[in-house]
This record gives sequence, structure tokens and C-alpha cells, in this order.
Amino acid sequence: MKNSFWKNKKVFITGHTGFKGSWLVLILNHLGAKVSGYALNPISKPNFFDNLKLSKFLENDFRADIKNFSKLNKAIKKSKPNIIFHLAAQSSVLVSYKNPEDTIKTNIIGTFNLLKAIKFNKNVKSAIIVTTDKVYLNEDKKINFDENSKLGGHDIYSSSKACCEIVTESFVKSFIDRDKCKIATVRSGNCIGGGDWTEDRIIKDCIEAFIHKKSLLIRSPNSTRPWQHVLEPICGYLKLAEKLLSKNGIKFTGSWNFGPSKINLSVLNLAKLGKKIFNSESKIIIEKKSIKKHEAKYLSLDSKKSLKYLKWKVYLKPEVSLKLTFDWFKIFYANRKNSKKVIEFTISQFENFKKVIKYF
Ligand SMILES: NC(=O)c1ccc[n+]([C@@H]2O[C@H](COP(=O)([O-])OP(=O)(O)OC[C@H]3O[C@@H](n4cnc5c(N)ncnc54)[C@H](O)[C@@H]3O)[C@@H](O)[C@H]2O)c1
Repeated sequence: MKNSFWKNKKVFITGHTGFKGSWLVLILNHLGAKVSGYALNPISKPNFFDNLKLSKFLENDFRADIKNFSKLNKAIKKSKPNIIFHLAAQSSVLVSYKNPEDTIKTNIIGTFNLLKAIKFNKNVKSAIIVTTDKVYLNEDKKINFDENSKLGGHDIYSSSKACCEIVTESFVKSFIDRDKCKIATVRSGNCIGGGDWTEDRIIKDCIEAFIHKKSLLIRSPNSTRPWQHVLEPICGYLKLAEKLLSKNGIKFTGSWNFGPSKINLSVLNLAKLGKKIFNSESKIIIEKKSIKKHEAKYLSLDSKKSLKYLKWKVYLKPEVSLKLTFDWFKIFYANRKNSKKVIEFTISQFENFKKVIKYF
């Protein structure tokens, strides 16, 4: 990737106050883009966006609901972006059991609103709609899903995201002039990385136990997950956005997997590794009662298309991704009053990652 590509590019991010959105704001700003964001206020305390004072890196910081088309459309009109990254979503499987209706409205109507706003704002030349690896119908048959695998979902989060894929495809076919605006959808695995304090995610539980010297309760100790560092998909999205704006941009529209295919680290081993990095004496306790929800035992993506056309693949081993994640939190808690230092550290993780990957 030519770093100069992003210089002065006008970028609009929905969901910029969330975990992935915050990384994207910082990286795009670092690469010289002019970034605007549209999202609700961050929920967790602490959170990446507020604690690192990321608002100062934005041209516009809109706080409104993605379900409100009029506000969204006005925000895009005012920001005049060339490129949009759509990340705003109800992003939790567990919350989708507790609040299915809001999950459906935020994820499906929200995506529809965004597409409608793109149609009305002719300066938008490309957009990346972020869905998930959970869009595939997973019947635990140990297959690696590629972009043509059947869509589906056992839970409302997954089905809402599968719907985003279908709605995007039909909206593009029906209403978008594909010579003028190029739209792609992207599906990544479970992301880990600094700055994620989202409820029900193992990293947050580990960090809180190690920092506050409490016992760490874990469920499903032997489950393995497609852990990948957040920098992996984010750099893939950036590369794809660059390609969408190239002369052959139309070839890069459609859907893209950005997920790991090898899953080899269990929840228990992840917790043990974190404990070692934090030099923690917290006890790891395996919780007996589990919440009743469908959980795929095996989820793996075939990302050969991204490798072939974007030279994208997962470069970091799970152990390295975890070390980067726990290192970030160590720096954060050691510098709670010094956001500049944490930002410098975050950018250094991005710069070091750039040296490892071959497609930049
Ligand atoms: N984190 C992961 O492991 C992962 C994996 C695959 C896909 N994804 C997808 O990536 C995207 C970002 O994930 P994340 O982990 O950063 O999520 P997050 O929950 O940390 O952030 C979600 C963002 O969306 C915004 N948002 C939520 N509801 C909104 C609404 N009604 N109106 C406006 N904004 C709203 C929030 O304010 C926040 O900025 C989501 O679409 C998610 O489904 C995440």
C-alpha cells in the first residue's frame, strides 16, 4: 500500500467510537486522511475512544443513531467523504439474545440507511460494509467457508449480519451506479487487540482480573476461537478500499473474507498466556454454569480470494496477537493519565505490523 494514497482522503466511519472504529480513526489519521465519524457514545468504562481522546483526530464527530436516516444523511452531506467504512452495529451475539429487535433494526435498517445515504451523496466513490465470519450457515461440518458459501445464522446477530450482505448486494444491483461508486462487504474473525473492554469478551475478563488482582472465571476452557489481531482485518480493509478506488475498482466489489483458517489456541491457554505476560497471581477458575446459546464448535474462513487479489493473509500467530493485546493494556494501565503515550504505543504497533505484512 502506498501510504500517500490516504493523504487528505476524506473518510467517513460509522461506529468510530467502538473497538475497531477507534483503531481505524487513529490509523487513518496517522496516514494523513481527513476522518469524520458517526456513532453512539461509547458504552464501556474505560473505553478506547474517550480515554485516548480520539475526538481530536476527527474533522467531524457525529453522535447519533444509525437508524435515523435524516441525521445520517446530513452528516454524510456535511463531511463529503470519498470513502466510507460502515462498522456501526450491535456487535454482540449475547446481546442479540437479550435484545433481538434492536439488533435487527440497528444492523439491517442501519445498513440500509447507510446505502440509501450513499445513493444520495454522489461524492462517495467507495464503501466497505463490515459484517462478520458469522454470516455463514454453520452446521459444524468442519468446512472452511469461502465467499460463495451459503449464508445463514443460528442467532439473531449472525442472521442480521447475513441480511446486511443480502441487502447490500440487492441495493447495489438496484440503485447504485457501479461505474461511479464501488461497494464491498468484508467478513473477519474474532478480533482481539488493545482497547476492547466489551462485555462478554474474554480479553476484557482477563484484563480486569489481572489488573484488579481478582480470580478469572472462564467458560468453555477447551473451545478454540479464530483469534486474530485487529490490525489484520483493518489493514485488509484499507488495502481493499485502495483497490476499490483504482482503475479496475469494479473487480474488487462484492464480498471478501479476512479471517484466519487455523484455530489452535484454547480459551484456557489464552488465559494462561495473559496471566504470564501480566505476571499475575490471579487464579483461573472454570465456570460450571453456562449461558444457553448456540455456539459453533468450529468456525474457520477460507480467505484465498483475499490472498490472491490483495496479497492479504493472517501474518501473526495467535500467541503473538495475544501478546500485542496484553502489552497494549499493560501500557494503558501504566499511563492512565498520559493518553499521548498510549497513542504513540498504538501507532508503533501499527508501524511494526506494517513491517511484517507484505501487502503494504
Ligand atoms: N470485534 C470483533 O471481533 C468483530 C468480528 C467480526 C465483525 N465485527 C464487526 O465489526 C464492526 C465493529 O465491531 P466492534 O468490535 O468495533 O464493535 P463495537 O461494539 O466495539 O462498536 C460498535 C460501534 O457501533 C456503534 N453503534 C452501535 N449501535 C449504533 C446505533 N444504533 N447507531 C449508531 N452507532 C451505533 C457504537 O457506538 C460503536 O461505535 C461491527 O459491525 C461488528 O459486527 C467485529
